[in-house]
Amino acid sequence: MAQAQAEADRFDAIVIGAGAAGLMAAATAAQRGRRVLLVDHARNPGEKIRISGGGRCNFTNLGVEPARFLSGNPKFCISALKRYTQWDFIDLVTRHGIAWHEKTLGQLFCDGSARQIVSMLVGEAQAAGVRLILGRSVSDITQSDGTYRVTLDGGTVSAPKLVVACGGKSIPKMGASSFGYEVAARFGVPVTETRPALVPLTFAHQELDHLKPLAGLSCPARVGCNGTTFDEALLFTHRGLSGPSILQISSYWREGDSLRVQLAPETDIADALRLARSRRGGQMPATVLSRILPERLAQHVCQRWGGTGRIGDQSETQITALADAAANWVVTPVGSEGYRTAEVTLGGVDTDALDSRTMEVRTVPGLHFIGEVVDVTGWLGGYNFQWAWSSGWAVGQAL
Ligand code: FDA
Repeated sequence: MAQAQAEADRFDAIVIGAGAAGLMAAATAAQRGRRVLLVDHARNPGEKIRISGGGRCNFTNLGVEPARFLSGNPKFCISALKRYTQWDFIDLVTRHGIAWHEKTLGQLFCDGSARQIVSMLVGEAQAAGVRLILGRSVSDITQSDGTYRVTLDGGTVSAPKLVVACGGKSIPKMGASSFGYEVAARFGVPVTETRPALVPLTFAHQELDHLKPLAGLSCPARVGCNGTTFDEALLFTHRGLSGPSILQISSYWREGDSLRVQLAPETDIADALRLARSRRGGQMPATVLSRILPERLAQHVCQRWGGTGRIGDQSETQITALADAAANWVVTPVGSEGYRTAEVTLGGVDTDALDSRTMEVRTVPGLHFIGEVVDVTGWLGGYNFQWAWSSGWAVGQAL
């Protein structure tokens, strides 16, 4: 009897974390005939998938390429992304009859609900025989004689392979924890500095006093920092700036850095002002600008410019200064909204410690890390899920 129980608690692989990467890893390994246990402390699997993309899950991007991922070793992600591509995941989604569409910039979303992606992955895992244990915490992990013993409340399970797929620290309310980094520390695996990314940026009170009246406004912008630039929408918030362009640049921004913001980058604002000066000289500069920018923002830009008079009265120097106030705005955030709202965690398990083909720790046989807990962070737009699918699939081949 006792021996039968011990057999039942022994697996070929234990995966901790039934999120995007863990579900993919468990299903892939089980489809290859492995006995897999997938365990999560949350009551439901794939919670971040469920809430992602405004409930429609931006599950991948047509433009996936290694340059769109940040990592201490930019080459680390290449192998997994090449072996399990966006087309492989699109194929899986299509085989499951899930309708999808491209929204913008190659971003693919479900037509219906993100829950379809969760059901698809759970269905694949269960059909392949993965044993799923939910709502149970891991209290201890030990390793000896080539076996990992994982203590859950209520018993111990064991396997020669352990996959850590616990995700990052963002949105603690949804079950995010530092557990993956703690496991790394316990086995002497280095972890690079972690920080919130794909996150709104905040300003000091002084700057906010000027910007607060703009809260809720959105406009196209080109936002640059530390040599990287994104052309996407910018949103003014009560605490600072957000919108896709800001979320993207937040991964490149560090405390003390300034952002260079060009509002309405598709328009040559100086040319538009000159044209108005020659054709509609009686108009106020804010009226001219409000044909390019939202009205309140046009007024704000004019206040920052500080000039007076009608557009017809402006010298070339004044026109250039006004255009600059809109197209060359330099702002210095003081911080970010943190893990409370960040979509991902930048940094994580040091890729130098891992084999890029198997995701196995070079110095600890049988121990693997995948998904967001690893120091690989994608751009906004489906890249982070693709990393979860690709790294999950790669480890699934190695178990
Ligand atoms: P993930 O977070 O998915 O899963 C980790 C799992 O581990 C969770 O189920 C958690 O409960 C479990 N866990 C944690 N600690 C544990 C412990 N101690 N014991 C047991 N289990 C534990 N990306 C994208 O590409 N497109 C998008 O549309 C979005 N949208 C989006 C919206 C929001 C609001 C957020 C917060 C994030 C996104 N993302 C995204 C990012 C994406 O969700 C993220 O990169 C992936 O979910 C990472 O997959 P992982 O499997 O690594 O972690």
